[in-house]
Amino acid sequence: MNLHAEQLKTEIESRRTFAIISHPDAGKTTLTEKLLLFGGAIRLAGSIKGRKTKKYAASDWMEMERQRGISITSSVLQFSYRGYRINILDTPGHQDFSEDTYRTLTAADSALMLIDMAKGVEAQTIKLFEVCRMQNIPIFTFINKLDRQGKEPLDLLDEIEKVLGIGSYPMNWPAGSAPGRHGLYDRHSHELEMHKPGEKPRIISTGKLGVEHSHCKDALDQNSYHKLRDEIGLLDAAGEPFDQKKVENSQLTPVFFGSAISGFGVASFLNEFLRLAPPPGPRKSSAGTIDPTDDPFSGFIFKIQANMNPAHRDRIAFLRICSGKFNRDMTVNHVRAEKKIKLSQPQQFLAQNRSIIEEAYPGDIIGLYDTGSYKIGDTLTEKEAFHFDKLPRFSPELFARVSARDARKYKQFHKGLSQLAEEGAVQVFTTLGAESIILGAVGELQFEVFKYRLSAEYGVEIELERLPYRLARWVKEPEIKKLPNVHGLAAKDKSGNGFIFFESEFWLKLAMEKNHLLDLRPLEQCPSAY
Ligand code: G4P
Repeated sequence: MNLHAEQLKTEIESRRTFAIISHPDAGKTTLTEKLLLFGGAIRLAGSIKGRKTKKYAASDWMEMERQRGISITSSVLQFSYRGYRINILDTPGHQDFSEDTYRTLTAADSALMLIDMAKGVEAQTIKLFEVCRMQNIPIFTFINKLDRQGKEPLDLLDEIEKVLGIGSYPMNWPAGSAPGRHGLYDRHSHELEMHKPGEKPRIISTGKLGVEHSHCKDALDQNSYHKLRDEIGLLDAAGEPFDQKKVENSQLTPVFFGSAISGFGVASFLNEFLRLAPPPGPRKSSAGTIDPTDDPFSGFIFKIQANMNPAHRDRIAFLRICSGKFNRDMTVNHVRAEKKIKLSQPQQFLAQNRSIIEEAYPGDIIGLYDTGSYKIGDTLTEKEAFHFDKLPRFSPELFARVSARDARKYKQFHKGLSQLAEEGAVQVFTTLGAESIILGAVGELQFEVFKYRLSAEYGVEIELERLPYRLARWVKEPEIKKLPNVHGLAAKDKSGNGFIFFESEFWLKLAMEKNHLLDLRPLEQCPSAY
């Protein structure tokens, strides 16, 4: 292997690119900060938190835009820790929730699912989990807020298995009763980590004897000790065994307990996570599998963010590097546009700062200034022109009819509509017959952003009329308008794919019962419209 190939391999093996998925308030910001602190990327915990976007009203888009620098730096973070280069992809919380959130997961090699010990598996976690599973990436679990009164650990494992349908393997196990649980037993290293607020954690080695060791017994009160011993005995005898293959295929999630705010269990979690989480792997493309160690550079755009700097009206396209080494100023093929493009001024996101980068490797995310040449899903390659598999499409759950207030602005309206749809800001459909325009979104904020941007960037004021639909189904046959007995709205996307929107599962089921030949498929199966 030549020096170049060897360096590439070393860089790839040191990279871990993952997304943190959770329901709002589970502690994602707090945990991210703690992880960054380990890497020395920030000095004081709290510097991200104080300015996080959820503190701003969703409708106050101007204010959010002003804060974009913060929101964007916290959407991709890179830091170093013990020889690893770690890229964290943020998936925004409830008010920021959008298709971007889902698409971001396509750039990750693994996911960290954060669960609040008191609340268990919550709605948004379920949605994000399903998208991760679709990507077939390993999913790790951190059960947070161990310091508080919460659900019983065994009940939580049961909930993960029942609600999410994934097996679980606890890597560590809480000792002591809540609130103020103060011990964590590591099933791999057989160490008991004892924690007291304000003090450094005390590590007690128990060797092969594990929980039977007198050190373990001495460290805990009698009740806590017996409970720990019984539960570890139960897990060892009746729990699912650890199986790396199952972890890789998202059939088994390694579970860690801890407390982000006190840092209890966070360091041991990070070390184990880095050991088990995969480095960047191969990706499918039109030219077969592309291995990260393949020499020519390649990557794909998974997110486009506009107006990060209102003064410049700039757009940033986020590119995930999939193979080869990236060098500043390199010229690459923009495969869809069939042209060469020079990548100057690439941005990297180091903790809270954006900076120009000179080089980057598979697993890294770089930001490219975009003057309108990129679309979601675009592939950039150094040599051979191929494209990576299309990004999955996500089913909208919210719908609105949109029209321009002033009919004379027809042209600008349609221009804005098509450009924002290309960016993946919303999905655009046209109803059959009446030909009105319907927007589909997965998060409320997408409509607000759309309305604001049409006004600010295209000078068009719009009316948005919310519709009661919640489900979209793809109809493979083109004859949808002739269908009788369907209580729903028929529409098509710009590629001409047919859809029916339903208000609920009830109407969907009824439509299927009444039209046996109707081939209704989840929208996710429809070819991407980007
Ligand atoms: P998010 O980004 O997932 O939305 O959650 P965030 O980190 O903001 O945490 C949500 C709340 O949970 C915060 O409290 C935070 O302090 C608390 N929290 C996070 N980790 C832990 C933990 O390990 N134990 C306990 N007991 N609490 C934790 P808040 O009152 O909403 O905000 P703040 O007043 O602390 O800023």
